[in-house]
Amino acid sequence: MQLSAQNTYSIQNIDPHQLTETFGSPLYVYDGATIRRKVQELQHAFPGINMKIKYACKANTNLSILRLMREIGVELDVVSPGELEMGLIAGYSANQITFTPSGVPFEEVREAVDAGAIVNVDSIPLLEWFGQTYGNTKPCLIRIKPNVAAGGNAKIMTAHADSKFGISVLLLEQILEVVKKYDIKIIGLHQHTGSDIKDAEPFLKVADILFEAAKHFPDLEIVDLGGGFKVSYLPGDEITDMDLLGRKISERFKKFCSEYGRELQLWFEPGKFLVSESGYLLVNATVVKEDPARNFVHVNSGLNHLIRPMMYGSYHHILNVSNPSGEPKTYNVVGYICETDTFATDRTLPKVKAGDLLAFLNAGAYGLTMSSNYNARLRPAEVLVDQAEAKLIRRRETLEDLLKTQTNL
Ligand code: LLP
Repeated sequence: MQLSAQNTYSIQNIDPHQLTETFGSPLYVYDGATIRRKVQELQHAFPGINMKIKYACKANTNLSILRLMREIGVELDVVSPGELEMGLIAGYSANQITFTPSGVPFEEVREAVDAGAIVNVDSIPLLEWFGQTYGNTKPCLIRIKPNVAAGGNAKIMTAHADSKFGISVLLLEQILEVVKKYDIKIIGLHQHTGSDIKDAEPFLKVADILFEAAKHFPDLEIVDLGGGFKVSYLPGDEITDMDLLGRKISERFKKFCSEYGRELQLWFEPGKFLVSESGYLLVNATVVKEDPARNFVHVNSGLNHLIRPMMYGSYHHILNVSNPSGEPKTYNVVGYICETDTFATDRTLPKVKAGDLLAFLNAGAYGLTMSSNYNARLRPAEVLVDQAEAKLIRRRETLEDLLKTQTNL
């Protein structure tokens, strides 16, 4: 969101008030220009290597976002038959889609393979099943757990020894036995360390572990290092230095490829990096309570629309779009759900009055995709602002949507 010299906010020159007047409130808004910029940033960060981006679409599965990604050369990582279907509807061909399951029923893997997607096998039992079912007729990747702890908080770390994800690198011998037994065609090794990882060091550590394991697989075409780059949550926030990381990983990857004897593809699966900063959740202040203990700003939204602050303690910067130059005041910003759904504690904002339009930043990733109908509340609409035009890309839910799965009306 840009702040003009006249102290007004805009998204690609569109006043956010105009967006909520047209499309209603609360409202998810995505800025397509930010997504394009983030994709370019990543594409340019890995010089001289064959790098592919597989967008981890769990971050945001709106079909218009998926189509935008496809148009700008980004492929897909999916984790469920539903996400796979959305990718196909968005125009991806199945061979551009990787299925990264996590202990799913094997039937889901069969569906994905039959559709033509490539699978990241995440357990020894699944590897056995894959071998029995397909022998050497279908290729797959193996998801390795490198036993490295990194990530913004414990809930979003996925590669430490206690994590449920992937096959421990300590079981390499067992993996090799199963691969040999069924002559499985392993074309790639995969791992995902966690989310919100700022430093280059954990990425380099897991890359080295994967390169070492890769020496045991002669037919590799791909090394997939997952996602997890840390984005900016407030002005001046420290983020993953992509130029530095890109340079260092590229160097090591080139060295690995020359030792391996063949040029491989390097894949990344970012979610947040590509879409987090593009998104805003626009809400209105409903009630401002001047309680003896604290000032509360209630808004017409809650953990049903944006659960990250309550689930992970995540920081979402908040702007008072209606009163950018108001005198600073400190508030707890809270939702309308019958739970303690606090978006922000002791947050200093330009003075808020009932009706003011507020914007939660970093709402492009894991916002609407993690939303719910708790308290029989409806999901907001979504709007994409791209090439200076605001388009409705998901209509607001209605009570009929909520009732349509009930069988006893
Ligand atoms: N690849 C795999 C296999 C993943 O499990 C994930 C995220 C990603 C890629 C993308 O990670 P990213 O680049 O977005 O950090 N809901 C949490 C984040 C959980 C991420 C789960 N897996 C949050 O809102 O912070």
